Amino acid sequence: MSDAPVVRFGIVGTGAIAGTHALAISRVAGAKLAAVQDIDPARAEAFAQKNPGVRVFGDYRRMIRSGEVDAVCICTPHSSHPAIALAAIKRGVHVFCEKPMAVGVREARKMADASLQYPAAKFAVNFQLRSAPVYRKARELIAGGRIGKLFRTTWIATDWFRSQFYYDGGGWRGTWAGEGGGLLLNQCPHQLDIYQWLVGMPKHVWAVATMGKYHKIEVEDDVTATLEHANGMTGHFIANTGEWPGSNRLEISGDRGRLLIEGGKLYFDETASSVSEFCATTTKERFRGPEVNKQEILLEGEGGRHEDMVRNLVDAITRGAPLIAPATDSVAQLELGNAITLAGVTRKPVALPLNGNAYARFVKKMAANSPAR
Ligand SMILES: NC(=O)c1ccc[n+]([C@@H]2O[C@H](COP(=O)([O-])OP(=O)(O)OC[C@H]3O[C@@H](n4cnc5c(N)ncnc54)[C@H](O)[C@@H]3O)[C@@H](O)[C@H]2O)c1
Repeated sequence: MSDAPVVRFGIVGTGAIAGTHALAISRVAGAKLAAVQDIDPARAEAFAQKNPGVRVFGDYRRMIRSGEVDAVCICTPHSSHPAIALAAIKRGVHVFCEKPMAVGVREARKMADASLQYPAAKFAVNFQLRSAPVYRKARELIAGGRIGKLFRTTWIATDWFRSQFYYDGGGWRGTWAGEGGGLLLNQCPHQLDIYQWLVGMPKHVWAVATMGKYHKIEVEDDVTATLEHANGMTGHFIANTGEWPGSNRLEISGDRGRLLIEGGKLYFDETASSVSEFCATTTKERFRGPEVNKQEILLEGEGGRHEDMVRNLVDAITRGAPLIAPATDSVAQLELGNAITLAGVTRKPVALPLNGNAYARFVKKMAANSPAR
């Protein structure tokens, strides 16, 4: 029998995503689901019945103090993530926090700061797409200089169709008071995170965000943003929950060609030479650039699942492996999402770093003014 340490997990919030966490934990050697808690005790009980041997707590603080869990999965609505995460890391209990870290970047920054203050607790955020081979490979190619100086990044993320029936399911979703935002806060965090993970953060954001364009909801369900980067790259982020069929297409164009991610595949149209140099020096071509080698990049390994992130956290706890998405490196996603929301709703350009207090005031005002659903 192996005497390798077992990391005992407790899940806070036994709603829709909690089952995926339980399954992921069950698939990772060295991980075990030990406890659950929900603000609705009946939900926690029902969840525990499907996971025999798991203890139910009535209060997450008691679970954290119990000594029966080494790590907590935070699977509650976004606005409750900061309080639960802070309570855990202050007690040395590791955190696996669902995305987004919080509603606003101000709270996310506090969480990241606290993770530095309490280093005994690992603090991971569930940006599982970072572990997907397609994005890992794209990042490697960009960082390795294969695409050259970046010209443009465009993500069309319009395959998020949601019906009115979905929004009418109600609860905390789809309201400024309950969720703190719409499409950018609920559906798009993974793509916003991957955007900044691949090509970095912009300096300025312009956007149009329309609230209730396709649905009777008070939050944004349609967004088009233009992102200006300090290195001269221009970005676009286009998303909505109304189109059908939608697209999920990411193009990254640079001085040595264009990367395309679509349908889970990675394509690279690689130029034989620098596009800008060719443009400046050719005395023959008027309408075309250098030769292009079109290729599909073969991807190795698996990833992109909750279990990959649980395994990473267990490895970080038991043998010091670096986290794929530590709290400190996950704030940027929320900053980008908040900035696009602010720019899009106010129709005014926003400069980064974003003023977290100003954004918190904006959400408070939206929540106060929003019509009752
Ligand atoms: N990583 C992903 O791909 C992914 C997918 C879906 C959801 N999520 C995230 O997971 C989180 C939860 O989403 P969901 O769809 O499971 O929501 P849900 O509404 O289905 O479940 C939330 C649960 O938390 C409980 N709860 C609410 N406040 C609580 C509190 N203070 N303490 C304890 N329990 C509390 C509710 O009773 C409910 O059972 C959200 O932040 C969401 O964005 C991530």
